[in-house]
Amino acid sequence: MKDHREIIDQLERERTLPDADFTALLTDLSSEDGEYLYERAREVRHRVYGRDVYLRGLIEFTNYCKNDCYYCGIRKSNCNAQRYRLTDEQILDCCEQGHALGFRTFVLQGGEDVWYDDDHICALVGEIKRRFSDCAVTLSIGEKSRESYQKYFDAGADRYLLRQETSDPAHYRYLHPADLSIEHRKQCLRDLKDIGYQVGCGIMVGSPGQTPEHIIADLHFMADLQPHMVGIGPFIPHKDTPFRDEAPGTLEDTLHLLAILRLMLPNALLPATTALGTIHPQGREKGILAGANVVMPNLSPTSVRKKYLLYDGKICTGDEAAECHHCMEGRMRRIGYQVVVSRGDWAGTA
Ligand code: 5AD
Ligand code: FES
Repeated sequence: MKDHREIIDQLERERTLPDADFTALLTDLSSEDGEYLYERAREVRHRVYGRDVYLRGLIEFTNYCKNDCYYCGIRKSNCNAQRYRLTDEQILDCCEQGHALGFRTFVLQGGEDVWYDDDHICALVGEIKRRFSDCAVTLSIGEKSRESYQKYFDAGADRYLLRQETSDPAHYRYLHPADLSIEHRKQCLRDLKDIGYQVGCGIMVGSPGQTPEHIIADLHFMADLQPHMVGIGPFIPHKDTPFRDEAPGTLEDTLHLLAILRLMLPNALLPATTALGTIHPQGREKGILAGANVVMPNLSPTSVRKKYLLYDGKICTGDEAAECHHCMEGRMRRIGYQVVVSRGDWAGTA
């Protein structure tokens, strides 16, 4: 039988593995072999992106959502969520503050809120691009028609984040109500890529009902899609959702998957997510040391931070943008990395 280090070396060389070897890495890795996996992932990351860490300023501009995902704290059935929308002026203020701090990417994230029609989103994207022409705009506003995606792109949007959550149809149905489907989600991702966005997909690690086979299906899906970004964070239960009593995903499983993704997709933009920072005080640092190269500090006004709770215990909900930025700079510096003032585009060639 191959030992785990041989499997890791093979993954680095070939960027893929037989399913049995993926299973071995996902289910049965000693802490020494885990360290070896992180080391290889770091090495690949250093070759492509050096020790730079890219910043994304996250602006959570609405927590209204027409969907009812069973895991999500802003699902429409959660009557305890205090709903809010930022005004265009508030959003532009966030960008202004962020730009002064050195952010060169703004991520507009929200629930699927039909109050914002396409013209509104386009006007917002256009205005941000006009005022901050050295910046990239990322949208993370869910499933839309191909026509809508095209309009946002024509208005200047550069990137789009849409996690598939799970590639397995039965597992997808377990996590979502019947009006959402994995087929449509995958179609959205293909449309986005086709239009010319830098596209991010991703999953929650340890979501209820998830098995290693599901994660392997996600790895195959991602090998096929070749996304520019992959957002990976642990599932964390939210008290007002049907999954309130489920166990959270673990730090180790998330770090292993991050490192596997770095070896599979060497050029990928991989964030060390807020959810990772929530399950462990040094989660984001550990994420960077397992091959991640992006962090996404929050730029939302403090007045709404506690209202955008997808899961319990979310960190940074009381901190000003400048505090988060400063904190992140220090965290990265202490582990030998530096946050850079840059759009932080994907390093590959299409
Ligand atoms: N735990 C962790 N991540 C979550 N997300 C939504 N709810 C949770 C939760 N309970 C993630 C989803 C979504 C992203 C914006 O946040 O993967 O795509
Ligand atoms: Fe809206 Fe989950 S309920 S994204």
